[in-house]
Amino acid sequence: MKMARKLVYVETYGCQMNVGDTEIILSILRDNGYDRTEVMEEADLILANTCSIRDNAEQRIHGRIARFAQEKRRGTADGTAPLVGIVGCMAERLKDKLLESGVVDLVVGPDAYRSLPGLLAAVRPDNPQMDVQLSRDETYADIRPVRTDRLGVSAFISIMRGCNNVCSYCVVPYTRGAERSRDAHSIVREAREVFEAGYKEVTLLGQNVDSYLWKSADETVNFAELLRRVAAIDPLLRVRFATSHPKDISDEVIETMASMPNICRHIHLPVQSGSTRMLELMRRKYSREWYLERVARIREVLGEDCGLTTDVIAGFCTETEQDHADTLSLMEEVGFDWAFMFQYSERPGTLAQRHYPDDIPPEVKTRRLEEIIALQNRKSLERYRAQIGKVHEVLVEGPSKKNPAEICGRASNSMMCVFPGSHPAGTYVRVRVVDCTSATLICEEI
Ligand code: 5AD
Ligand code: SF4
Repeated sequence: MKMARKLVYVETYGCQMNVGDTEIILSILRDNGYDRTEVMEEADLILANTCSIRDNAEQRIHGRIARFAQEKRRGTADGTAPLVGIVGCMAERLKDKLLESGVVDLVVGPDAYRSLPGLLAAVRPDNPQMDVQLSRDETYADIRPVRTDRLGVSAFISIMRGCNNVCSYCVVPYTRGAERSRDAHSIVREAREVFEAGYKEVTLLGQNVDSYLWKSADETVNFAELLRRVAAIDPLLRVRFATSHPKDISDEVIETMASMPNICRHIHLPVQSGSTRMLELMRRKYSREWYLERVARIREVLGEDCGLTTDVIAGFCTETEQDHADTLSLMEEVGFDWAFMFQYSERPGTLAQRHYPDDIPPEVKTRRLEEIIALQNRKSLERYRAQIGKVHEVLVEGPSKKNPAEICGRASNSMMCVFPGSHPAGTYVRVRVVDCTSATLICEEI
């Protein structure tokens, strides 16, 4: 007799790693009787794959749990109440505290997804289940993720898990555990499979890809070598990666990028602050000068047009007006294409929370962040304007959201391009840039 299949609905928050993890979870669940639905109301199982990076990320998820509670109450009357599971970073951070509301049936941390089927078999309304064990070696290397992107153009491939840095503000080492690199052969195999399935782009993901290092009895593969192997699959497969760490990005990686045109000309290099004093307090293990030297090297080898993006935190512990001014001047000097910009949010259990006062008043954090954003908007426009007249090869993603007569896709440097046309998703089109905004290149096909 065939078992009736059930439906799982998943919401994913946070970073691209989490998107990748959702695809792993869906694969494990699919092999255990669950198909995916995008309609929460019809689900037998509701999952939130959560993020703890800033307090507001967690607050948002608490709001969603309240919404899931409604769904449960609605179903209780007719016996269709779904199970509710919290997985990912917030599950790892809050553990059994999440069970207190009585809404949550399952709490599963980032290294425990293989135990989902067992937990689901054991769970009862009055008997919630939890596994938040972190692992030294879990990389889910053998699991074929269920792709969740709609376009079928670009796939995320996780190459490592966890993080061994101890940036003093960051909760990730606590929620995702120690760093471990995935078997290089399984990565190359997965990239080849997605290319054969029609994908044209892979993004290799890790908290700190530059420290990727996989050893077997007869070989050692570092990140540069991994990039070479993935890029060698086919010249028509674009390779991207995230995230790089300024202390670890090596000349070998930069030169590997230069040597293979299908490795995209874009580096996301979070700087966090332009003040060496702040960087020390953040335990980033580089100085302002080191960062600027890495940028100079990238531009020397890959050219001025290499896409460069960053993350910045405003108002970290003890930050003075001079430290803030240093951040602004660094951003002025480098000229990032765009940036993710945040106010510092104190996270329980981190080094900063234990040792430094969160002493910058909220209104000062807000004002500094606004200054950072205003400066970045101006720099973005400058960087995009500098592209006018240049030629790019765009990988088409689909129709433009604003105008259905136009299509959009990214240039190698990651800038979004729009232009009139009707090529299907996954085609490469050569375009010339004719105009721009601070976030889009307006192009024409050539
Ligand atoms: N507060 C604010 N921003 C943070 N980030 C990480 N931790 C915090 C925090 N506690 C930012 C960093 C990181 C990005 C993913 O999130 O800029 O690079
Ligand atoms: Fe959020 Fe960081 Fe976890 Fe990603 S790794 S989900 S950004 S806390």
